[in-house]
Amino acid sequence: MPEIQNLKFTKMLPTQGLEVSALVRRAADTSEGNGFTPQGRAAFERYTEPLAIEQRGGMGYEHELAWVSGVLVGMVETKGCRISMLYVHPEYANKGLGSRLVTRAVPRCAASNSSAKHIFIHAMDGVTGFYERVGFVRSGTRKESAGIFATPYKLALSSNPPRAKLRSASVDFFVFSGTGNTLLVARTMAEALEQEGLTVRTRDLEGLCPALSEVAAVGLAFPVACFSTYPSVWRFIDSMPPGEGREVFMAATCAGLGMRMQGPVRGALLEKGYKPIGAKIFLMPGNYNKRTLPLEKNAARVEQTLQEARFFALDLLGGKTEWSKGIPKLSQLLYRLAQTRQPWDFFYKYICPIAADPEKCVRCGRCAGECPTKAITLMEEGYPAIDAALCQSCQRCVGFCPRGALGVPGKFFEPYRAMSYEEFKRADG
Ligand SMILES: Cc1cc2nc3c(=O)[nH]c(=O)nc-3n(C[C@H](O)[C@H](O)[C@H](O)COP(=O)(O)O)c2cc1C
Repeated sequence: MPEIQNLKFTKMLPTQGLEVSALVRRAADTSEGNGFTPQGRAAFERYTEPLAIEQRGGMGYEHELAWVSGVLVGMVETKGCRISMLYVHPEYANKGLGSRLVTRAVPRCAASNSSAKHIFIHAMDGVTGFYERVGFVRSGTRKESAGIFATPYKLALSSNPPRAKLRSASVDFFVFSGTGNTLLVARTMAEALEQEGLTVRTRDLEGLCPALSEVAAVGLAFPVACFSTYPSVWRFIDSMPPGEGREVFMAATCAGLGMRMQGPVRGALLEKGYKPIGAKIFLMPGNYNKRTLPLEKNAARVEQTLQEARFFALDLLGGKTEWSKGIPKLSQLLYRLAQTRQPWDFFYKYICPIAADPEKCVRCGRCAGECPTKAITLMEEGYPAIDAALCQSCQRCVGFCPRGALGVPGKFFEPYRAMSYEEFKRADG
C-alpha cells in the first residue's frame, strides 16, 4: 500500500464546515452504492450542510481532519461511541487513510465512556467491506432510515485498536542506556529489523529530540528506573515533535519490576499523535549491585532476553505486539512522582551516593563527558565532583570508569556494565 506523504491530522475548527462539507459530498458522490433514495439524498444534504457540521461541533460531536499539503483529504465525525461519518477524498482512497482515521477515532470513542465495549457505525452498502477489513462485525440487518440504507456494524473495544503492524520501511531508533543493558537489547532488535529489510538509524536518546527522519517510525529504548524511567528520558519524550500518525514502538529493560510503566509512555505518545505499535519491558541484570555479580546467571538471563528481543522485533512487523495501558491509578501516580526529584534524590542519598576514590581515579574525565545530565564536573585537580541535585543515578559513570574509581564510598562494590566501553561507544546505524 503506497504511503501518503506529509499527512497531518487536526481537530476541526468551528469555521471549517465549508471545506468539510465539500469533501464529504464529493466523496459520497463518487462512492459506489451509497444507498441513497431521493429522500435519503435530501437528508444527507441537510446533514452535511456546512453550518450543520459546524453546529454539531458544539453539540458533543468531534471531528478529526486529515490534510496533505493544506488539502483536506479525509474526515471522521464521532459522538460518544458512534462514528457518524467517515469520508476520504477519492484520490486518497485505498491508501490506508480510512483505517488510520478509524484507528485515531477509537481512543476518542473509548475515552468518552470508560465502560463502553463497542464502537458503532451504520455502514452504507459501498463501504461494508472496508469496515469488515478494519475489524468491525455486522451487528444487525440492513435497514432503511430516513431514506438511507445502511447496515449496523460494531467494533469490540477489547480487541482494539486492531493490532497494528509496523509498516514503515525505516526506523529512527532512539536509545538511552546507563550501563549497556538497553543498548544490547536495542542493537539486537535493530539487527533483526534490518534483516527483514528495514533501515534502522540508531540515535542517542539524550538531550532534546532532534528532527526526525521524514517517513521513519520512531523506536524508543531506555531502562526502567524507580518504576518509571529517568527524568532525561521523560524530557526527551516531552520534546518529541507532533506524531501526526507516525508509528512508534518502545523497548525498556528492567531488573524485575517494570510496573507496566509503558502505560504512561503510551499515554504521552498518544497525546502527541503517535501511533503506538508495541511495547515490551525486558528483564536484564540489575545494574546497581553492590556485591559480587552472579556472572553465569546474568549471562543466561541476557541470552534469553536477547532472543526475546529478536522475537519482539519480528512481532512488531507481524502485528502481534501490544502496548499495556498500565496499572489503573498507580501508573499515573508513579509517572507523576518520576517528574519530581523525590525518587532520584532518595536513590542518590540512601541507595547509591556516588563518589570518586582519589586513590583509584586517574582524572581522565570520562565520567564527566558521559554523564547524561551534566551532573559531573571536574574540579581544579581533575577529580570529578557530582552534583546530587542533577544526578539521576543511571550508573553510567560507575559502570564505565576505566579504574572502577566511582561508587558508594566505604562500601565494597563491583560495578555492573553489560559491555566494554569501546562496545558501548561503537557507532551504530
Ligand atoms: C536508579 C535506578 C533505578 C532502577 N529502578 C528499577 C525499577 O524500578 N525496577 C526494575 O526492575 N529495575 C530497576 N533498575 C534496574 C535497571 O532498570 C536495569 O538494570 C536496566 O536494565 C539497566 O539498563 P541500562 O544498562 O541500559 O542502563 C534501576 C536501576 C537504577 C540504576
